[in-house]
Amino acid sequence: MQVDRDGNGNLVAWWGTAPSGGVVTGSHLDSVPDGGAFDGPLGVVSGLAAVDRMRSDRVEPERPIGVAVFAEEEGSRFGMPCLGSRLMTGALDADRAAGLRDPTGRVLPDVMNGAGCSPDLGRSDLLHDPAAFVELHVEQGRGLVHAEAAVGVASAIWPHGRWRMEFAGRADHAGSTAMADRHDPMLTFAMTALAANKQARLADALATVGRVEVEPGGTNAIPSRVRAWLDARAPEEEVLQRLVAAIGQQAADRAARDGTSFVLEPESVTARVDFTVALRDQLVGLLGGAPVLATGAGHDAGVLASAGVPTAMLFVRNPTGISHSPAEHAEPADCEAGVAALATALTALSTNSG
Ligand code: GLV
Ligand code: MN
Ligand code: MN
Repeated sequence: MQVDRDGNGNLVAWWGTAPSGGVVTGSHLDSVPDGGAFDGPLGVVSGLAAVDRMRSDRVEPERPIGVAVFAEEEGSRFGMPCLGSRLMTGALDADRAAGLRDPTGRVLPDVMNGAGCSPDLGRSDLLHDPAAFVELHVEQGRGLVHAEAAVGVASAIWPHGRWRMEFAGRADHAGSTAMADRHDPMLTFAMTALAANKQARLADALATVGRVEVEPGGTNAIPSRVRAWLDARAPEEEVLQRLVAAIGQQAADRAARDGTSFVLEPESVTARVDFTVALRDQLVGLLGGAPVLATGAGHDAGVLASAGVPTAMLFVRNPTGISHSPAEHAEPADCEAGVAALATALTALSTNSG
């Protein structure tokens, strides 16, 4: 297969030439810190395995088939999820991207140059106006376990986002400052983490604080500053907005009592995505009535769908539902079923036999 790359670190391998109007599959190879082996790579490997399977079945596609790898899907380094696909589709402005910094302070273009990319940070035509995109992904919940099915089809991605929170107070001595005299931002932060959990439960939504930085970080010093990141997700936009506002309000009230300050600012917010209904129904039919599931996890497929590409997703059963952890798993037989389902989908979409 011929491999093409764009200036944003995205790759695609083509089976067939003249790629305009192709059928593309693929996913990502990056992960979260200490993540699992399946979130991302399963979709790339399954794409290549599906091509092998189609070739050995002597399928002759009428459209080119692409297997794509999108850069920095998790946003683990630059804080922006789906960075590669957002740049590729123009969903992320080049100027904003040029200012993104990793935790060591290095800006994205420098890191890309160092990695041998020639960054352009602009929209790219890597996929050449695909007729359809189908991403296969390990399931990140137990929907397919409950449905007793190896493979499912996605209906939607919940609206979700990341907000940076900054709590500032007054550094002081842990051994000589009376409890009543403190302006401790750690307390404001701790209450905010609890508030996020409580408000999410009340709203039937999800909220997580998975990353925190403390300054100056001394065991015997009251901190001057705490930075933390809120990840929040909900089935509908208004629920998400109300959830984040409620958390922010509780944090601000607590900051007033603690004599600290609190700032909440969005880092990236992604709207709800409903996958192309006709394509979803076509895949459900091709797969003999596979279950249909919504997910709270973000995917490059969501970015492509928002850019107007007819898009669908396949999920492969995960026995525990655990993801973003080394415990993430899918049984080999279910991975094989995923490859077979993907090959069926790509065959139908590329030969007009579906
Ligand atoms: C992707 O894994 C996400 O965090 O939504
Ligand atoms: Mn992930
Ligand atoms: Mn993923």
